[in-house]
Amino acid sequence: MKFKSQKLAYYFFSTCMLLLCLQITYGFIMGFAHMGYDNLHDYIPFNTARAVHTNLLVVWLLTGFMGAAYFIIPDETQRELYSTKLGFIQLISLVVVGVVAVIGFHFNWWEGRKFLEIPRPLDFLVVINVLTFLFNIGITLFRAERSSTTSIVLYTGLVAAALLYLPGMIYFENQSVDSYFRWWVVHLWVEGVWELIMGGILAYLLIKLTGVDREVIEKWLYVIVGLTFLSGILGTGHHYYYIGAPKYWLMVGGIFSALEPLAFLGMALFAVVMYRRSGREHPNKIALLWTIGCAIMSFVGAGFLGFAHTLPSVNLYTHGTLVTAMHGHLAFWGAYAMIVLAIISYAMPMITGRKNYNSMYGMLAFWICNIGMLGMTGAFAVAGVAQVYLERKTGMDFTLVQQEIEPHFLGLVLAATLFTTGVLLYIYDFYKYGRPNDEALVALTDNG
Ligand code: HEM
Ligand code: HEM
Ligand SMILES: [Fe+2]
Repeated sequence: MKFKSQKLAYYFFSTCMLLLCLQITYGFIMGFAHMGYDNLHDYIPFNTARAVHTNLLVVWLLTGFMGAAYFIIPDETQRELYSTKLGFIQLISLVVVGVVAVIGFHFNWWEGRKFLEIPRPLDFLVVINVLTFLFNIGITLFRAERSSTTSIVLYTGLVAAALLYLPGMIYFENQSVDSYFRWWVVHLWVEGVWELIMGGILAYLLIKLTGVDREVIEKWLYVIVGLTFLSGILGTGHHYYYIGAPKYWLMVGGIFSALEPLAFLGMALFAVVMYRRSGREHPNKIALLWTIGCAIMSFVGAGFLGFAHTLPSVNLYTHGTLVTAMHGHLAFWGAYAMIVLAIISYAMPMITGRKNYNSMYGMLAFWICNIGMLGMTGAFAVAGVAQVYLERKTGMDFTLVQQEIEPHFLGLVLAATLFTTGVLLYIYDFYKYGRPNDEALVALTDNG
C-alpha cells in the first residue's frame, strides 16, 4: 500500500464483517421458522427477519464496494484520497442510518417492498451519504494525472447504482406500476450496474494477482461491459411477465434475459484465461482463490441458476417460490459477496503490513464457505421444486405446502451452519491481521 488514505478501507471492511454476521443471524431465524420452530414470532416475525436479512445484505455489500473503491482508487490514480475525514463521516452516518432502519423494521416502520423496505425519510439520508462518497472518490479521480479504464468502469458503476436508486423513491398508487419501477432498482442493479462494479474490482485484482498486461485485461473488461448492457437492460422484462405489464415483455424478457448468462460466462472465462496466462506466482493465493472463485460461482449462481427460471414458461410456475431463493443466494454470494471477500483478502496484507497471506484458516474459510453455500442452494432447490410441484401443479394450499416442505429446512440449517463456520474462520483470519499500520505499509507495496 502506497497511500495512507487507503487505510480507510479497513474500517469499511470491518463494518462489512459485522453486518454479515448480523445478516446470517436473521437467516437462521428464518431457517428455523421454515422448519416449524417459529419461536421468536412475537418479537421477530418472518417478514421482519426477511427485511432485515435482505437489507443488511445490500448494506454490507455496498459498504464493501465503498471500501474497495477507497482502496483501489488511490492506487489506480497514484494519489491520496481527497478527504479521509469525509470518508469516516460517511461511514459513521451509513452505519447510523442502517441501524435506525433495522430497529425500525422491528417496529413495523418499513415500506413492504422487497429489498427496498427502508422508509422514505431514511432514503434521503442514504442519498446524501452516497453523494458524499461519490464526491470524495470523484474529486480524487478528477484531480489525478492518470486514470485507468478499471477505475472509470468502477466509478461509472457506482454513480449509476446511485442514480438507479431514485426510481425506487417515487411514490405510485398502483401496485403494478410500483413493482415495475422497483425492478429498475433491483434488477438493473444486480444484472446491470453492479456488474460494472464487480467487473472493475475483478479487473483490478486480476491485474495485480496475475501480472498479465493491463491493456489485455482492460480490453476484456469492455467486452463484459458490452455483454452486460446488451442483455441486462431488456432482460428486466423477466420480472414483467405476470405482474400486469404488457404481454410483449414475455418475448422481450425471455429472449434478452436468456442471453444474460453470457456476460457471466464471459467473466468466468476472463478470470480463468488471465489466471492461466499468469506470468508470475503471486504470494497471496487466498486472494486469487476468492477472485477466480467469484467469477466461476457467479456464473453458476447468476448465469446458470438464473437461466433455470427465466423463460416465461418456467417462471409461470416458479415465480416467487423458494426456487427464487435458491438462485438469489448463490447469485448474490458468487457475484457480490465473493468479490468483496476477494478484495478484502487482497487488501489486508497491505493495509496492515502483515504477510499473513496463506494461513490455513483463510484457505479453509474459502472452501467451507463455498461448500456450505452450495449445500444451502441445494436445500432451497429441493424445497423449491417440491413447493412448485405441490402448490402450482397439484393446487395444494400454500400453508399446507409450507408444512410439507419443513424437513428440507433441516438440510438448509445444517448447510448454513457449515457456511457460517467458514465465515467465522474468514473473520478470525481478518481479525488476526490486526489493525492498519502506517510504518509497515511502505515496505510492503505491491506493484503488480
Ligand atoms: C449477480 C447477479 C444476480 C443476482 C444477485 C440475482 C439475484 C436475484 C434475486 C435476489 C431475486 C429475487 C428478487 C425479488 O423477488 O425481489 C432474483 C430474481 C430473478 N432472477 Fe436473478 N440475480 C442475478 C442474475 C440473474 C440472471 C443472469 C438471470 C437470468 C438469466 C436471473 C433471473 C432471475 C429471474 C427470472 C428472477 C425472478 C424470479 C421470480 O419470478 O420469482 N437473475 N434474482
Ligand atoms: C447462513 C445463513 C443463511 C440462512 C440460514 C439464510 C436463510 C434464508 C431464508 C430462510 C430466506 C427466506 C426465504 C423465503 O422467503 O422463504 C432467505 C432469503 C434471502 N437470503 Fe438468506 N440465508 C443465509 C445467508 C445468506 C447469505 C450469505 C446471502 C447472500 C450472499 C443471503 C441472501 C438472501 C437473499 C438474496 C434472500 C431473498 C431471496 C428471495 O428474494 O427469494 N442469505 N435467506
Ligand atoms: Fe432480473
